[in-house]
Amino acid sequence: MKRQLLMGAALALTMSATAQTKLLTNGQEAHQIPAEIYGQFAEHLGRCIYDGIWVGKNSNIPNTDGYRTDVFNALKDLQIPVLRWPGGCFADTYHWRDGVGPASKRPKIKNVFWGGTMEDNSFGTDEFFTLCERLGCKTYLSVNVGSGTVKDMNDWLEYITGTEDCPNVNLRKQNGREKPYKLDYMGIGNESWGCGGNMRPEYYADVYKQYSGYAHLYSNNTNPVRVASGSNDFDYNWTEVLLKNAGNNMEHISLHYYVLPIRDWNGSKGPDRGFTEEQYFSVIRDGYKMGEMIPKHLDIIAKYNKNVKLDVDEWGIWTDQEPGTIQGHLYQQNTLRDALLASTTCDIFHQYAYGLGMCNIAQMINVLQAMILTKGDKMILTPTYHVFKMYAVHQNAKYIPLNFFSPKYTYNGESINALSATLSKKNGVYHLSITNVDPKKENSITLDLAALNATTVAKAEILTSKSFSDFNSFDNPNVVKPANFDGATVKKGELTVKLPPMSVVTVELK
Ligand code: AHR
Repeated sequence: MKRQLLMGAALALTMSATAQTKLLTNGQEAHQIPAEIYGQFAEHLGRCIYDGIWVGKNSNIPNTDGYRTDVFNALKDLQIPVLRWPGGCFADTYHWRDGVGPASKRPKIKNVFWGGTMEDNSFGTDEFFTLCERLGCKTYLSVNVGSGTVKDMNDWLEYITGTEDCPNVNLRKQNGREKPYKLDYMGIGNESWGCGGNMRPEYYADVYKQYSGYAHLYSNNTNPVRVASGSNDFDYNWTEVLLKNAGNNMEHISLHYYVLPIRDWNGSKGPDRGFTEEQYFSVIRDGYKMGEMIPKHLDIIAKYNKNVKLDVDEWGIWTDQEPGTIQGHLYQQNTLRDALLASTTCDIFHQYAYGLGMCNIAQMINVLQAMILTKGDKMILTPTYHVFKMYAVHQNAKYIPLNFFSPKYTYNGESINALSATLSKKNGVYHLSITNVDPKKENSITLDLAALNATTVAKAEILTSKSFSDFNSFDNPNVVKPANFDGATVKKGELTVKLPPMSVVTVELK
């Protein structure tokens, strides 16, 4: 009996001891991680545009020329590389002329996809391009294919990029903008398999060729990157048919993938907060599936045109709406779980960055997996915002592959990797980001620095909290926020990082 008890104690000791994982690298730089992987998406949906970034010049909320000052400053800090606008499903109902000229003369429209909300069009083309100029980010326009015409698109392109003496260019000048704007990317339709026209891939391929051909003629020879409306998550046939039929007419093709705690598009998707471990586990597990679908889509693309890049231009967690909010506005809270989904997904993006053009999390403010939430004149930064800020060091850095066998996080008999990591180098400085998704166990890693030109930890930051369901509220805005971290040390040329349960750490090595 006594012997049995002792054995039990020894077992318990082993179980609670921190698992240690050796990360291996030869220090060789692989591909560049495009900054555009950290792209944002702002749709006319709920309070993303109105109340989110735009309050108008006459608002009591502090603003500069109508843009909320607090939100603008937070976005500027995030170093946003590219912004997609005006949708989403909304884009295929948007007629650009409604959103230019004196605000008082712009017609009101009903946002048919998102709650039937009436919008006054006070945020339009000039407001979007001016915002991007002030943020210093690239512009990504979604063109209306579902309910627009080729002529509407051409006129819009002329308005934005034209220099000649013609009505569309003169209209822009009359509206106060002499110089053309810079248009970097244009999406030809959105989810053309669904809200963007319910098309078959064969049909859309033809429509795509028609629009994309004229797009290059009318964009004042600035030739924006053309993004074909791509597949819904695992629909490889859509990518295949598009590449086969129009692969030589596109520069990029998109991919949309949303993670639902309960994968039921027609029923309850699971709450945004106050969820169970089962729903925590399913989100992280399904997030990892991005790492299966990207290489499969890339393989199909490479069969037809190796130069075409994949843009994951909508991704993130989609839960039930926060109770008490307007149906169709897709307002949800943002928890530590969502932050870990973001860090593990960005690690996958880094791995496949050689084939990716950009990625745009959905969405920037007050919608789905938002960076920022607002309420009246208040603003909070979400846990996902903090991950994007911590991960900004990887923008335009060189990716350095790591090899390791991750310990497992097991729930209800199912196991997934507990650890996810990225190592990159920029301007002679290395950054290692590691996520431990296990909600109960600390996990520790070691990394032999011999292959790297680094000897010390210059800085380390951690994002964690007591519960995976913790979030920042307007009354308590700093529950989940980054802190300096002292769990990363170097001894005899070896880095050790001790990761608490449910944490993401970024270490700067010099
Ligand atoms: O991001 C919300 C919606 O999700 C977008 O409008 C649409 O493209 C997708 O279905």
